[in-house]
Parts: sequence; C-alpha cells; structure tokens
Amino acid sequence: MTYCFASRILTRRIAGSVLSLAFLCVPALPSFSAPVRPQPARTSSASDTETRFVDDLLHKMTLEEKIGQMSQIALNQPQDVSPDQRILNGQVGSFLFVTDPNEINRLQHIAVERSRLHIPLIFGFDVIHGFRTIYPVPLALAASWDPAMVEHVQSMAAKEASAVGVNWTFAPMVDIARDPRWGRIMEGAGEDPFLGSKMAAAQVRGFQGETLGSPNHIMACVKHFAGYGAAEGGRDYDSSDISDEQLWNVYLPPFEAAVRAGSGSLMPAYMDLNGVPAAGNKFLLQDVLRDKWKFNGFVVSDWDAVLNLTTHGFASGPEDAAARAVNAGVDMEMTSHVYRDHLADAVKDGLVKQSTIDEAVRRILTAKYRLGLFAHPYVDPSHAAAELVTPEQRQASRLAAERTAVLLRNEDHLLPLSKSLQSIAVVGPLADSKPDIMGSWSLAGHPADAVTVLEGIRKRFGSSATVLSTKGVEIARGQPSIFDSQFPSPQPTLETDAERKAEFAHAIDLIKQSQVAVLVLGEAQNMSGERASRSTLTLPGEQEQLLEAAVATRKPVVLVLLNARPLNITWASQHVPAILDAWYPGTEGGNAIADLLFGDANPGGKLPVTWPRSVGQVPIFYAHNLTQVPDAHNTLYWDASSAPLYPFGYGLSYTSFKLDNLKASAPSVKSGSSFTVSIDVQNTGSMAGDEVVQLYTHQRYGSASRPVRELKGFRRITLKPGEKQTVTLTVDTHDLGFWSPQTHHWSIEPGPFDLWVGASSAATEHTTFTVLPQ
Ligand code: NOJ
Repeated sequence: MTYCFASRILTRRIAGSVLSLAFLCVPALPSFSAPVRPQPARTSSASDTETRFVDDLLHKMTLEEKIGQMSQIALNQPQDVSPDQRILNGQVGSFLFVTDPNEINRLQHIAVERSRLHIPLIFGFDVIHGFRTIYPVPLALAASWDPAMVEHVQSMAAKEASAVGVNWTFAPMVDIARDPRWGRIMEGAGEDPFLGSKMAAAQVRGFQGETLGSPNHIMACVKHFAGYGAAEGGRDYDSSDISDEQLWNVYLPPFEAAVRAGSGSLMPAYMDLNGVPAAGNKFLLQDVLRDKWKFNGFVVSDWDAVLNLTTHGFASGPEDAAARAVNAGVDMEMTSHVYRDHLADAVKDGLVKQSTIDEAVRRILTAKYRLGLFAHPYVDPSHAAAELVTPEQRQASRLAAERTAVLLRNEDHLLPLSKSLQSIAVVGPLADSKPDIMGSWSLAGHPADAVTVLEGIRKRFGSSATVLSTKGVEIARGQPSIFDSQFPSPQPTLETDAERKAEFAHAIDLIKQSQVAVLVLGEAQNMSGERASRSTLTLPGEQEQLLEAAVATRKPVVLVLLNARPLNITWASQHVPAILDAWYPGTEGGNAIADLLFGDANPGGKLPVTWPRSVGQVPIFYAHNLTQVPDAHNTLYWDASSAPLYPFGYGLSYTSFKLDNLKASAPSVKSGSSFTVSIDVQNTGSMAGDEVVQLYTHQRYGSASRPVRELKGFRRITLKPGEKQTVTLTVDTHDLGFWSPQTHHWSIEPGPFDLWVGASSAATEHTTFTVLPQ
C-alpha cells in the first residue's frame, strides 16, 4: 500500500512536477502521523510555543533517538549500515557534504515522513567563501577592510547554498593567525582581534540574515574554538600553548563577536589548548562559551574530533571520549559515531547524566525549529539551478575580488597598464589555472565557471592585442593534499629536465616578444588551507628563477600573486616594479584582475597580516609589546632587519591621499563612554580611489604592558580626484579595556593613551587622550 502525501506546504514549495509528486508517494508506515507540524513565525529567542514544541518532542524520544539527533554523518564516508536505514532508525540528525537538492530531499523525506518522530535532518557544508560561485578567500575578504561587503558576500553564498537545500555552513572561521606557515591562515581574517571581530560578526550576519531562519540564509558555525591559529611552528593540528593574557585579548574576541552576532552554532578546534583538547575542554565550552558569553546555540565537534580525544591521550577509550565530549559541551558529533555507539552506555554507566543529553538535544531541536525545518523541510530542486552562478553572483564575485586586491608596489606608476598595449605576455603556472584562481575550500565550485587571468586579459583585448601565454614552470605539493580527490590542482606534465628547460626558455622568449609581462605566481590552491602548512615561505618550485629571468629581459614586469599567506617576495620587492596581491580571488578572479591591471578598478585593499621578509621573522605582528629598546625594534636580529617587509594595514593605490588635521573631540574621556576622532582625507591624485582610514591606540602604562599599537577603528572611503572628506571615527572606551595578567580580570584602566590615524599600522598623525575613571 502506498501513502501519497501532499501537504499544503509541500505543494506550495515543490511546484508539483512529476518528479516531486513521485517522491511524495511512499509506502505507508503503521504509525504514520502528520509529519509537518504547525510552526509559528521564526524567532531567534525562545518563545513559549518554541519551548513547548521542543519539550513535547523531547518527551517522546527514546535515548537512542536523542543520541541520533546528536550524530552527524558524512555521506561520502564508508558506512556499515546504510544512511537511509540510519535515518529510519532515528540514528542520525544531520548530514554533511550532501549538496544535490534531489538527494537532500530524498534523505529528508525518509526523516520527515518515515522515521518514527518525523524530525527533519539538518544539512551542513563548508560554505567558506562561496558555494557554487566562489568569492575571494576569507583572508582576502579581510583585506577589503569592508565589513558591509563581506556581509554581502556571505549572504550571496548563503543564497546559493540554501537554494540547493544546505541549511548550515561550517563558517566563519575566526582563528587569529600570526604565523603564515600555518596553511589555514587563509580561512580567517589574519592577525588582528579588532579587524577579526568585525569580519566575524559581518560573516555571521551575512550567512544568517536578520535572524536564524531568514529566507535564503543558512546557519553559521563559528570555528575553531579556540587558539587553533597558534599551532606550534605553524604545523596544522599541533598543540597551542597560549597564555591567559593572549587568549582573552587576542584569540577569543572574534569568537565573542560571532556569538554576540548570533551565530547559531560553534565548532571546537582539533588541537589541545594548553594541554586540554578543545573538544573536551570544559573551560572553553562551559566556562567561557555558556557561562560567560551565554551562548545558546549548539556545539558540533570537528570531523572525528570526539574519537580523537583518545588519539590525543586524553580519553581512555571511545566511551570515555563520548562522555568527556558531551560533558564538556559538545552537542553533536561530526562523523566519528562514538556518540552513536557508546553514549547510551556512558549514560547507563553513570558517566553522563540524562539531563546533559536532554540539554544537547534541546539545543539541536531548537536550531532546527528556528531554521524553520519542521515547517519547511524540503527544497525546490527546480528552483536550485536558476540560483547558481547567476549574473548577480558573478558581479558580486568580481567586485569582491577587486576590493580585496592589495597593491604592494608600483614603481613609476607602471600600473595601471595602458589599454592600447599591442602585446602582453601572461606567464606562470597559475596564469591559466581555473582551480587555482578559486582557492582551497571551493568544494562545490566548478572550475569550468572560473575565469583565469589569461582569460580575463584575452577577453578584454579581443583581437586588438597579441596575448601570449605559457606556464614557464610547473609547481606541485611535496605530499598529496587531503582534498586532491575532491578538488585537484593541475599536476605537472613536464617529465624531463630538458622539457622543463625548454618550457622555461619558451616563457622568456614570449616575454621578449611582448611589450609587458604579467607573471602570475604564488601557490597552487592546494598549497594553502587545511593540512597545508609550510616550513618556508618561498615561491614554490622555480618561480623565483622565472621571475628573475623575466626581470632580466628588461621588459616591464608586473607580478600578480595568487596566494593566501604572505610569501617571501623580498627580492621582488626590490626588483619587480609592480606587485599586485590578488589572493585567491574566486570565480571572477581573471576579470577582476584584468580590471585592476588596466585601471578599470583601483586597488584599495590593505594587508590583514604583517608581511615578513623571511620565514625566520615568524611569528611577526604589529601589536607586539614594547621592548627595552623601543627605538631599535628593527634591529632585534644582527643578521637581518627585524622590520617587516610590509606592515599590517599597508596597501597602495593608483592615486594618492593626504591625511591631516587630526582632531580628537575631547582631550579626556570617562571610562565607559566614547569620543570621536576626525581627520581630513584628500585624494591628491588623478584617479578615483579608496583609502582605508585606520585608528590605533596605545595605553602608556597600567597593570600590564600593552601592545605598541592596537587597531581600534577603521573606515574605507572612496574619493574622486581632488575630493576631500572629513572622516570621523568613534572610539568606544569599552574597546580600550583588556584582560590583565596582573589583576586576572578585564577592565578599562584609566590613564594616558597615544592615538594615531593613518593609512597603515605605521600611521604618523598623532595625538593623545586620557581615560578618566568612571
Ligand atoms: C575539518 C575542518 O577542520 C573543519 O573546519 C571543517 O568544517 C570540517 N572538516 C568539515 O569539513
């Protein structure tokens, strides 16, 4: 016997196609009851109806069904019992890595119509910098210094992801990273807690919209809580040893900002923080997250991280691991099915209280409720395709790529290049590589959609210029990447030294035949990201030699970098006249880079990380404390400068700006209140352009030494040639507070401060102010 279900909601959402009607016809189950529950308007704070709804459901659930809600399966993992059966058994509450809307509906259908309690599944995916349309990587987004644009980018990503039925992203990643050897520096906003907090909140707002469950949006999952970016030696997954002072003042603020912005979920990190693995860390997950920040979303572990509590030598076995994770506050387990297999025993053995399980499940059901999954469990597959890589998405991707690029050098105004060039050589292993313009974590992206630098330049010139291109050299990782099977970079094809030499010589020949050479160098996308740490920062392979040989031709050379970490370009910074850091700019990267190179867009991005001269300077960041030789900070090594190559906040433009007339609204301010600072900014060049006005402060003394400078405000503005604007920034004294290692609490300490405003962390316009007691 077949039961054909056609609820009002379903018929409205799935436009009655043969396919959708077919999948609504299912074998009837004896205990079948109305699967779609009435649900009132979405809200992000608990209403009585919501609480009653969740409580009712919780009452009906067996322990096994509760643990099912706490278990997430990756569809691409080998399974002993089929996922369909798991859903029927009530043994799974979530899937990750399912992105086909028909498959999402099929699985959801089993959960909603055929499982005993009809609880919908939640589908998660790593929507890190775009879904099908790829946007610049998060480090690049931070380089825009434009939170409004970053919010828009993530809302566009959410729109695509939600169109296929993904409800939840494992983003934003807000780990502060001060070590470019660490491959995952690409996924965050760089080194600074203030910029990082603004980017964290903007991304949460972008993904989630106004409230959890907003149409065309998805739930955020702030990660990796906390301290992952401080991995020893920059080695991915290695331990982090972080003092309380650094933890509270540097590593935790972006998480707090994401929580305050309403992130619906959070993921603990893999590594141990000061000896305690994050997935079993009660201090982080209970004391800080729940007790102090009042986080009311749910916590999902990282992939296999619960089982890994045993690998870490923390838990004695899987049952102990399950108990430690859930008791610490991990509500849902990603992939390693330790909860599914051992949590019930842990409850029976008295290691875990029933109330702890109930609390975890309550949080998960509440999120599903708020996302509207009980009322609208399905997605309309016929609508999905029309939402992907639309012209609107492409336009947003191109604009984002233009706004994130950082101009590092531009001698004698080599850039922008003339639009009437007759011949251009576009050379390098990344010049025409579609996956590599997209960057790591582009798993739902299609390389075929992407525009390479070569394509962008060719399209712009049509037949009006000769655009010659070749790789010159090939690059590849020393070890395979964990993502190679899902998202590979092109592999080397030249087999012999002779072939490699011939290709190198061919590239130099093409450069000699051209008026200008654009060298597109950097790292293949799989050289950056998870498990992509490095012990050096050199340009991989023979790219440096290619660059030097190109410069030796005496043709004008423009270096376009594709990267997501500072690389060693110290030689280039002295010998290559123009350097544009385009990061991994995404689907429209090639068009955006062509716009930038030929002056249809003007670079205005600024570095979100300090750029070292060599790997020996790492870690290096601008907000260091004073030494006893403050004026000689650049001489802390005897064999090289200890100054960075480019400071945090640095970036040039094709135009020039004058910043002067710095004024503070008052010489002193009461603790707890705010004051304003203004500065005049004038575009003194001949092209419209953007400047990022940055405000830094320094507390002269207090219960602890404070960094020489700390970012406390910024604004990106656009000025026409000659235009002048007074930019006013508000300094909230709350932002001047810090956690003192002396007093062991957070406070705003009264006293004198320095303040600088300028176009980088080397800003020179200076004034002072005093914070008075409240
Ligand atoms: C492991 C990564 O650490 C995490 O960031 C990601 O969200 C999960 N895998 C799922 O892909």
